[in-house]
Amino acid sequence: MLNVVIFGAPGSGKGTQSELIIKEFGLDHISTGEVLRAEIKNKTGLGMIADGYINKGHLVPDDLIIDMLAGVLDSKKNARGLIFDGFPRTIPQAEALKEMLNERATGIAAMLNLEVEEEELINRLLERGRRMGRSDDNPETIKSRLDEYHLKTAPLVEYYKKENLHHAIKGTGTVEAIYEQIKEILSSCRIS
Ligand code: AP5
Ligand code: MG
Repeated sequence: MLNVVIFGAPGSGKGTQSELIIKEFGLDHISTGEVLRAEIKNKTGLGMIADGYINKGHLVPDDLIIDMLAGVLDSKKNARGLIFDGFPRTIPQAEALKEMLNERATGIAAMLNLEVEEEELINRLLERGRRMGRSDDNPETIKSRLDEYHLKTAPLVEYYKKENLHHAIKGTGTVEAIYEQIKEILSSCRIS
């Protein structure tokens, strides 16, 4: 399998680049944010709990996310590979992911870190909020999403550097130019 973590702050382009990777490499997409938004729409128990966290711009607790991810992984047993978008977001999530993949005799081939300056992130999210009306794309929630990112998620950069899986990607410029950097890395990835 070719398993990839696409990483970056809110608005860094994880979803946008995932679409291109999926098309070319035939991977299945796991976006924990999208799974949670579907749970909210369907008013499930998990959705009701997650809603409060997402609207405040806070991370949903690790145990809920890890349980949810285990279920999604089991439904993707026959995939050629997986792209993890928005997961892991904390060190405990990264450790749980490593263990879950180990148990399935596979692992992560690369962590792609989309690097974008804060001002650009805020502009992109405000613009999307105006266009698409995603409930967490408003100035107050964007601020707490970015605070959560710096506090709990950014330490994963060091974690994946130690695992020798980290790849820095310049996340500004055209979508195509960003994708070219990703394509080059994935084309030379070891498949486990
Ligand atoms: P999630 O859905 O993962 O949101 P996010 O990380 O805040 O990121 P976004 O989806 O907003 O941005 P993106 O990086 O995908 O960028 P995109 O391609 O859309 O999570 C939402 C919430 O769910 C979290 O806050 C948390 O509460 C909860 N959650 C989810 N996972 C969790 C977990 N593992 N643990 C705990 N809680 C969790 O692009 C953004 C915009 O920019 C778009 O409009 C796009 O068109 C535009 N754009 C993209 N690329 C470019 C470019 N190159 N130039 C100009 N514009 C661009
Ligand atoms: Mg996204």
